[in-house]
Amino acid sequence: MSSELSSAPTPLECTGVRRSFPVGDRKLEVLHGVQMSLAPGERLALMGTSGAGKTTLLNILGLLDRPSEGKVLVEGVDAWSLSPAKRAELRNRRIGFVFQFYHLLPELSALENAILPAMILFKGSEFRRRRSEFETKAREMLVRFGLQDRLGHRPGQLSGGEQQRVAIARALLLDPPILIADEPTGNLDRGTGETVLEILLDEQKERGVSLLLVTHDERLAKRCERVLFMEDGLIQADSSAPIPT
Ligand SMILES: Nc1ncnc2c1ncn2[C@@H]1O[C@H](COP(=O)(O)OP(=O)(O)O)[C@@H](O)[C@H]1O
Ligand SMILES: [Mg+2]
Repeated sequence: MSSELSSAPTPLECTGVRRSFPVGDRKLEVLHGVQMSLAPGERLALMGTSGAGKTTLLNILGLLDRPSEGKVLVEGVDAWSLSPAKRAELRNRRIGFVFQFYHLLPELSALENAILPAMILFKGSEFRRRRSEFETKAREMLVRFGLQDRLGHRPGQLSGGEQQRVAIARALLLDPPILIADEPTGNLDRGTGETVLEILLDEQKERGVSLLLVTHDERLAKRCERVLFMEDGLIQADSSAPIPT
C-alpha cells in the first residue's frame, strides 16, 4: 500500500520561483525563489501579511501567470515548458481556481458560469453534444450549495456569498484533482464566509482533492493539515517540518 501511495505523483510543486514586475524603469522582485509542494489529498493553508506575495504565487501555481524564473510541476509535468494551448488544457482539466473576487462573467447566468470550463475545454460540436450532461452536473452542485432558486440569475443579481458558491461549482465542474483558493471568503461577512467555507471544505473532503488555500483566519488554518507562512516573497516556516533537535 505504501509503495502505491508513494508512486502517486505530487499534484503540485514549485522550485526556485521568482517573479518580478517592471515598475517604472526598475524591477520589483516580489517572489525570491519559492519552493513548496502540495501532497495528494492534502489541505494546505498559506498565510502571511498583505503584500507578502501570496496571490502572486497562487497565480503562478494556478498557471495564470508565468514565473520570471523557476519551475511549476503539475502532476510531474513542467507546466511552463508546454505550449500555451497544452498548458491551458492542463490548467482547465487539472486545476480548479477560486478567486477572492469571484470573477464570474456578468452576461452569463449562474448555471452558464458554472459550465464555462466545459465550454472552453470542449468547444464547438462536442460541447453542444454534451451540454446537457454538464448542465446536469452543474445544477446538482448549485442545488447542493443552496442555489436552487438562483440558477438563472446573473452575477449582478447575486450576493457575494452566492457568487462565490457559483465560482466553487465552476472550479469543480471538471473534477480537477487540485483546488487553489485565494482568500475565498476574504470579501464576505463572517456568517456568509463560514457557509461558503463549509461548502469548500466538504467538497474537498468528499472528493479527496488537494487544496491549497490562502487565508488570514487562524481557525481555518487549524482545520488544515499543514500551514505555510509567507513573508517578503519567501516561505518562512512549514508546520510539518521536523522540529530541530
Ligand atoms: N502586476 C504587478 N505589478 C507590480 N507590482 C505587483 C503586481 N502584482 C503584485 N505586485 C506587488 O507584489 C507584492 C505582493 O502582492 P500580492 O501577491 O498580491 O500579495 P498578497 O496576496 O500576499 O497580499 C505587493 O507589493 C504588490 O504591490
Ligand atoms: Mg492576495
